[in-house]
Amino acid sequence: MAQPNTERAGMLKEKDRAVRFVGMSRDVASVKARVRREHAVIRTLLDVLDDAAREVHGRVSGLPALRRAVWELYVVFDDHLAMEEALVLPLLKSVDAWGPVRAENMLTEHNEQRQMLLALVDDTECDQKDASALAEEAGWLVKALRKDIDAEDEALDVLNRTAGFVPGQSDG
Ligand SMILES: [Fe+2]
Repeated sequence: MAQPNTERAGMLKEKDRAVRFVGMSRDVASVKARVRREHAVIRTLLDVLDDAAREVHGRVSGLPALRRAVWELYVVFDDHLAMEEALVLPLLKSVDAWGPVRAENMLTEHNEQRQMLLALVDDTECDQKDASALAEEAGWLVKALRKDIDAEDEALDVLNRTAGFVPGQSDG
């Protein structure tokens, strides 16, 4: 049985993660553009995972590709969440009186996403579910994460209300 990756993933403390984003542009337009760029990469990885899940349905031979797709998505998504917490969260807090509530909601959603992804990483690596069940779980996660990032893209414009936003500036 393979070792679960949850412990390894949990070893990075929040402070250590934030350090990686020191020096990066924090103006609203750059942050929005960065979020949208990363969402585009994540959508591609979700497509890859979706394809791998369809391929694996009932067939054990597709499991290595499914494991790889899950792991690649996990690594990129986890990094993306850390980026949003380092760069988007401070902007979100300062938008208006509802800023702290929005920030809290973002953290809650991120933690739910981390838990769902880690559960899928563990399930695909620990051989405790059959191929069809794994494919179903992966397909469900793909749908949920697509919905989340579509909603996030739409909600990004709330950042235009922050004091640092320059109207008319390209935001990618
Ligand atoms: Fe995001």
